[in-house]
Amino acid sequence: MFVFNIEIFIDFKTLHYIMSEILIVYYSRAGNTEKLAKAVGEGVREGGGNPTLKSVEEVEINKLPEYDGIIAGSPVYFGTMAAELKKFFDESVVVRKKMVNKVGAAFVTGAHRTGGKETTLISILQAMLISGLVVVGDPLETGGHYGAAGSDEVGLKEGRALGKRVAELAELVHRKK
Ligand SMILES: Cc1cc2nc3c(=O)[nH]c(=O)nc-3n(C[C@H](O)[C@H](O)[C@H](O)COP(=O)(O)O)c2cc1C
Repeated sequence: MFVFNIEIFIDFKTLHYIMSEILIVYYSRAGNTEKLAKAVGEGVREGGGNPTLKSVEEVEINKLPEYDGIIAGSPVYFGTMAAELKKFFDESVVVRKKMVNKVGAAFVTGAHRTGGKETTLISILQAMLISGLVVVGDPLETGGHYGAAGSDEVGLKEGRALGKRVAELAELVHRKK
């Protein structure tokens, strides 16, 4: 009896055509938001997408149109997003026309239990709406509000659920398979 061992090699370029490419862009000074970003990335993978994690300093604006979805994260600074993430959105204006219908979502961390998390999430979603993205919050299973908040177990669970939702929705919107 013969046994055929068939191996299939798929390079990254090909992968781009079959998986949703999700950029997770964040600003983090002390590491809390970065921790949540990693959980969001796990969720994206769980949802069948390919996550790319980049801090705002690393991200290349001209590469943004290559992604199917963008999930942006920030610490709460005085009830809104950090200036570094705002700068990222300001600079993205040059590719605005190419951002239409990409899936967008937000995540934040803050020192206070409430203390501006929702207003910060909304500030990020506002920028995304103005860029033409289709924005979503975390799914009903984690509360169904404006996104993921916090780097404790609850926040990380929200982050994973949010990442999964964005990957699944990007798949529906951009029909990769
Ligand atoms: C300038 C500044 C302003 C802040 N404002 C708030 C705030 O309004 N509400 C809050 O809950 N935390 C506030 N914080 C705390 C941070 O949001 C919190 O420590 C966050 O988790 C830090 O994220 P990082 O570890 O990713 O840098 C502030 C921190 C700084 C440095």
